[in-house]
Amino acid sequence: MVNGPLSSAEEPAERIDGRAVAARVVDRVAAATQRLKTEAGVVPGLAVVLVGDDPASQVYVGAKGKKATELGFHSVQHTLPTGTTEAELLELVGRLNDDLDIHGILVQLPLPDLIDKNRVIEAISPEKDVDGFHPINVGRLASGAGNAMVPCTPAGCLILLRDTLGDRLAGLDAVVIGRSNLVGKPIAQLLLGENCTVTIAHSRTRDLPSVVRSGDVVVAAVGRPEMIRGDWIKPGATVIDVGVNRVPAPERGAGKTRLVGDVAFAEAARVAAAITPVPGGVGPMTIAMLMANTLTAAYRRVGRTPPDMS
Ligand code: GUN
Repeated sequence: MVNGPLSSAEEPAERIDGRAVAARVVDRVAAATQRLKTEAGVVPGLAVVLVGDDPASQVYVGAKGKKATELGFHSVQHTLPTGTTEAELLELVGRLNDDLDIHGILVQLPLPDLIDKNRVIEAISPEKDVDGFHPINVGRLASGAGNAMVPCTPAGCLILLRDTLGDRLAGLDAVVIGRSNLVGKPIAQLLLGENCTVTIAHSRTRDLPSVVRSGDVVVAAVGRPEMIRGDWIKPGATVIDVGVNRVPAPERGAGKTRLVGDVAFAEAARVAAAITPVPGGVGPMTIAMLMANTLTAAYRRVGRTPPDMS
């Protein structure tokens, strides 16, 4: 914690270290995994399903399986061809629902066009829905029930915000840019739960810069490289950048690329009190929270209260 959220930041912004916070979460998951094994003889099991050969999805799915294996989870990956039918995928989800060794099921999105993603999501047992996308979990989160599976990226954003702002989060004006089911809507619910006053802005919002300027907390999840400029940021704000955009980087050599967020980092860092970098901010939190959700599912299956892994 460096500057107060409402103070004018003359110092360069604190860089919120997502890698360090994610490592802490993973350490807690590892310790709780050991306890569950010793006390209940249960090994958390995660099944990740990939349909098709999208290169980015292959990388994400591989990273999820690797982390699960490192943690000593039972980790399985099902890779299905692009031409897989919805019925075939639903049949696999049904088998995973019935498999007692599996506590968490993740079907990587996007799915091929001919498969209705909502049907697939709704087929996953809500108790095994470690993505938190099933309507039962969406409803539990919206109604403030304690037993929701919370989507991994928003859950990770909230931990970063709590770490940075602590008790000062309550009462702040939060602006979420983006209204996706994956990030925008669930992070808005989580921030409401923290007693923030929440605005959800999106592509049709009028005068987006002035809406963003009202935010003590800004969460950017639009998928447009460096769209949010430094002069849109309220001095002293805390900025969470969920965007991961690959852009050309000719300065690194012909054909080279680099990753940037949805926020123009260098500009915003001159104004904000604290900001997540890209990479190294929200990204590492997503996998850490997937592991935490899988462990939570395993604890609940044996009737135990999951530990707090934040
Ligand atoms: N594709 C991109 N992000 C995600 C995610 O968090 N979960 C799933 N299932 N697919 C994704």
